[in-house]
Amino acid sequence: MACYFRRSIASKLSRALGRSEDAFISAVCAIPVSKKQQSPDFRLSVNTLLRNGILPTNGDLQAQTEALASQLKQDSVVEEIFAGRGVIHFRVSRNLLVQKVLEQLCQERHKFGVKSELFDGLKKGTTVVEFSSPNIAKKFHAGHLRSTIIGNFIANLKESLGNNVIRVNYLGDWGMQFGLLGAGFQLFGCQEKLKKNPLQHLFDVYVQVNKEAENNEVIGQAAREFFRRLEQQEHQALLLWKQFREITVEEYQQVYKAFVGLNFCLNCFIKLKQKGTGVVDLSSAGDMSSYSTVLRSDGTSLYITRDLAAALDRKERYNFDEMIYVTDKSQGIHFQQLFQILLAMGHSWAERCQHVPFGLVQGMKTRLGEVVFLEDVLDEARARMLRNMSQSKTTKEMVYPEDTAEKVGISALIVQDFKGPLGSDYKFDWDRILQAQGDTGVFLQYTHARLCSLIHRYGDGEEGAFDPSLLLDQRSISILQHLLRYDEVLYQSVQDLQPKHLVNFLMTLSHLAASAHRELPVKGSPQAVAQARLRLFSGVCTVLANGMKILGITPVEKM
Ligand code: ARG
Repeated sequence: MACYFRRSIASKLSRALGRSEDAFISAVCAIPVSKKQQSPDFRLSVNTLLRNGILPTNGDLQAQTEALASQLKQDSVVEEIFAGRGVIHFRVSRNLLVQKVLEQLCQERHKFGVKSELFDGLKKGTTVVEFSSPNIAKKFHAGHLRSTIIGNFIANLKESLGNNVIRVNYLGDWGMQFGLLGAGFQLFGCQEKLKKNPLQHLFDVYVQVNKEAENNEVIGQAAREFFRRLEQQEHQALLLWKQFREITVEEYQQVYKAFVGLNFCLNCFIKLKQKGTGVVDLSSAGDMSSYSTVLRSDGTSLYITRDLAAALDRKERYNFDEMIYVTDKSQGIHFQQLFQILLAMGHSWAERCQHVPFGLVQGMKTRLGEVVFLEDVLDEARARMLRNMSQSKTTKEMVYPEDTAEKVGISALIVQDFKGPLGSDYKFDWDRILQAQGDTGVFLQYTHARLCSLIHRYGDGEEGAFDPSLLLDQRSISILQHLLRYDEVLYQSVQDLQPKHLVNFLMTLSHLAASAHRELPVKGSPQAVAQARLRLFSGVCTVLANGMKILGITPVEKM
């Protein structure tokens, strides 16, 4: 459903300026809530009209703004129109604001916001999102955790907007590091230990062989030799590779389970057939001032070679419209070169490939020391959350407190990670992220759970007649004004793939809801008032849950 008010304002502009309504839709923006009574709800930046060639650029901006504002006539939907500095403000009817937003919420539920006309111009197609991508027998470190939650968010967002999303986990299971592991296993490996604690054993072997290789040249040779055998598809070497790979995949699948809704297709390596040393000239002058090596002199492949093969294979397999890679920012040049080579090979679709880089997480430690495996982080989050929760009364009545603690713990991790721009580094701090107050994932969950229990007890207010005039108080109006922004926030998020817009939106919504919950009682209010308030709270609860799910958070109903 289109936003009723945005349409109505666009239609006024269309009549005044003689363009189609659609030309104005994305220029009309909901205004962030303020404490002012009777504050306007939407604004139009006249600069946007200049930029889009709708108004001539040679005039005086303020004169143009005022002239346009006076041309637009108010009516029973848009009750007030006035010019500000370079912008025009619109205030809509309070009764209609209440009625239309709640009506839309009631009808669209989990589709609220995503059916907005803002998305009409966006192409819906097949999107490959590659994320997580740890390496066999190496640490699943904080960087992989970050890639996992960011990639999951991007995939969820794209999916919610109607794209066909393919999630790929590109396991680092090939290359010289695997040669080292293969050679190492022949020296220090033990099938018994491998069965008992597979990933740990592979990791131990990997650490040991790396140490040995430092002062023993023979090990390095053995590793190169093992890798060469692999690349030539030698049976014995391949067998070991397959075994390690299966073990790892199995174990990772267990670990990933904690992230509900996280599903991957695990990509296997595809062989690229090529002969001779390969170097690709990437300079514009053709003078090799910039180049990339794609084949070693012994004929073995490099990281970028395998990425080329994987990209070509994915294009063939999925015929995607766009592909997104999520890794830390140190791999920026790698992906730049990858896309350049693909373009040079004549694959224009590489223009629709994108690298989403993120910064470092510092100091993600558990009581056992620096994080080694993902389980350790999850265990730590669960244990700490459980301890915090044990002070609460509802926890004692809970059937699966561990389960709730895990979900809330993960939301704390996610929110902390998503608050700032993805590109910046940040310092990890358990105590800060697990606070129940302040802008944390715990606070989001807490607000959601409180609304759930309210609705559980008194209903969602959707039965019987509904009188919008019972929600004209400033608290309710602020919430509704804020909800008007939801589709814009999603739009902004899908433009730059940054989760902070959605996180900020949900935080504000939670703060507004928490104060409304305090000040607008349901219990003890006249029936009609209680019903109207419940309808509002139920709408907020739905949008909170929708947004949290896109972030990758599983909303809990009790905590
Ligand atoms: N496994 C790599 C690492 O741990 C990340 C892989 C990123 N994806 C890619 N297609 N190169 O650093």
